[in-house]
Amino acid sequence: MLNEPTRLEPLEQGAMTTDAHTTLDLHFDLEAAYRGAYEAYRASGVDKALDPADKEFAGSEAWRQEHYFRVGADALRLIVQNLIANNRSPPSRILDFPSGSGRVTRHLRAFFPHSEIVACDLYESHIAFCAQRFAAVPYLSREHLDDLSFEGSFDLIFCGSLLTHLPQKEVEAALRLIARSLSPRGIALVTFQGRYSDHIQRNKWKYLADRLYARAQRAVRWRGFGYVDYEPSFRAVFSAQARYGVTLVRPHWVMRALEPREEIRILSYAERAWDDHQDVLVFGRPGIND
Ligand SMILES: C[S@@+](CC[C@H](N)C(=O)[O-])C[C@H]1O[C@@H](n2cnc3c(N)ncnc32)[C@H](O)[C@@H]1O
Repeated sequence: MLNEPTRLEPLEQGAMTTDAHTTLDLHFDLEAAYRGAYEAYRASGVDKALDPADKEFAGSEAWRQEHYFRVGADALRLIVQNLIANNRSPPSRILDFPSGSGRVTRHLRAFFPHSEIVACDLYESHIAFCAQRFAAVPYLSREHLDDLSFEGSFDLIFCGSLLTHLPQKEVEAALRLIARSLSPRGIALVTFQGRYSDHIQRNKWKYLADRLYARAQRAVRWRGFGYVDYEPSFRAVFSAQARYGVTLVRPHWVMRALEPREEIRILSYAERAWDDHQDVLVFGRPGIND
């Protein structure tokens, strides 16, 4: 039982007015605002232009294109679900990190036409494409994420399929970076390759050769985190960095990495949530004791 009545947070940004008196009213006000944005997104459609250099879209088969757009839309579904679930007004400032060539950015732009969207990636051509097509602000990343910082803070950070490819030191640096880049009511969605990845490697498709995967798998079973570099032939595509590969985690490792951070609240961890594949961690500000 609660000792004191819950104090309602005022909705910021003047996005909507409400005379609601309960969190349930606030929830449905927000849902209505997001439904309006969804109807506009459906009416305007998503920019379908593809960057020939987009690493997420190799090959011309129809199913690849269909999958590409489905994955982007599924990221938007998760973002909207979590904004509503955590009582957040539509974000004014969004960071898509890493943007690649806009698999997710294009959906963010169509859904949040008035928001500032920063597209950050390690490769210049990706962010230039996002700037040109999706009116994003391009921002070049750094190989070592402790060396990266942003001007200002973000109401929403989507970190999709980056910590699925980096060694432990960089994953820890990325979590620090994201936590310190959130606005006072900002939330972050961060994806990981979790328990389901072993099933994929065994039964569906190969992240990389079994003998290499087994090295990351041994480590993840032992201590909750495993990493192995991609084969050199594949790594040539990622020429701006010394390390790029397959990262596997277990939920307990992610929780332990975040637990000491009092400036954030851990909001959820959902397995196999993005594209029926990657796990999705959600955390945000204000901090646990604020
Ligand atoms: C699997 S893709 C995901 C891109 C995008 N989120 C999407 O869903 O299409 C991984 C991206 O991470 C970028 N990347 C790798 N290392 C990075 C770093 N240190 N900082 C920012 N981006 C990086 C790569 O260039 C690539 O575009």
